[in-house]
Amino acid sequence: MFDSGFGGLTVARAVIDLLPDEDLVYLGDTARYPYGPRPLDEVRGFARQIARFLVERHGVKSLVVACNTASAAALDELRAELEVPVLGVIEPGVRALVSATRNGRVGIIGTVGTIGSGAYQRAVAATGADVELRCAACPGFVEFVERGETGSDQVHILAERLLAPLCEAGVDALLLGCTHYPFLARTISDVVGREVVLVSSADETAFELRSLIAGPAPSPVRGPAAGTGRHVFLSSGDVGWFESLGRQLLGPELGRVEQVSWT
Ligand code: DGL
Repeated sequence: MFDSGFGGLTVARAVIDLLPDEDLVYLGDTARYPYGPRPLDEVRGFARQIARFLVERHGVKSLVVACNTASAAALDELRAELEVPVLGVIEPGVRALVSATRNGRVGIIGTVGTIGSGAYQRAVAATGADVELRCAACPGFVEFVERGETGSDQVHILAERLLAPLCEAGVDALLLGCTHYPFLARTISDVVGREVVLVSSADETAFELRSLIAGPAPSPVRGPAAGTGRHVFLSSGDVGWFESLGRQLLGPELGRVEQVSWT
């Protein structure tokens, strides 16, 4: 599993809880974080490099792209190139979103890269669900979370401005299409209204991974867990920072973090 940094730990948490006996290798590309404002081509290059590294060096039997921006930029290429099954966070989140709405008006928020890629818009259309979709990029949200500022007046004011079009559209289900946004759930909910269902991709992705692993044949990764519940964490940036902030976000399973270099 990989993410641009810490946010994908929300997906890692869900996977560890649901599949405790599976071995997990998590890579946070904190040296090149954030991905959200970068050109999609550049993010695609990063994703391909990390995917190859995890398959070749760590022998992973399946890959979860636990980053919305990287999923939006590279999922199709990774699926075509890799010999292991690849799961992103977009499709599982979208399935949960369209089943959560009652009035048929849904919203999706994400980074500039994710929303600009059109990947979520295509994924919603591909479900065939009869829904009206409103999307909004939320530049600045990730930075507030990284500073640990999830309930300040400033983030509330920014949320009011960015989420206004979704409120006006009357959405009743809103997908948090960025790994960091679950940490802002309270602020987002205060702004859009408690009656709007907030959908996060983390749990849905873990359920989909479980189906992939435990699902019916033929599946190259099917069968009982081959692992022993060993969790390995890698970071391309400052490992001390990853250990301390990562442990706060994920919990005690995050032990020593190993350094990865892209030279
Ligand atoms: N992980 C990214 C995402 O889910 C958010 C952080 C970043 O911009 O790198 O889109």
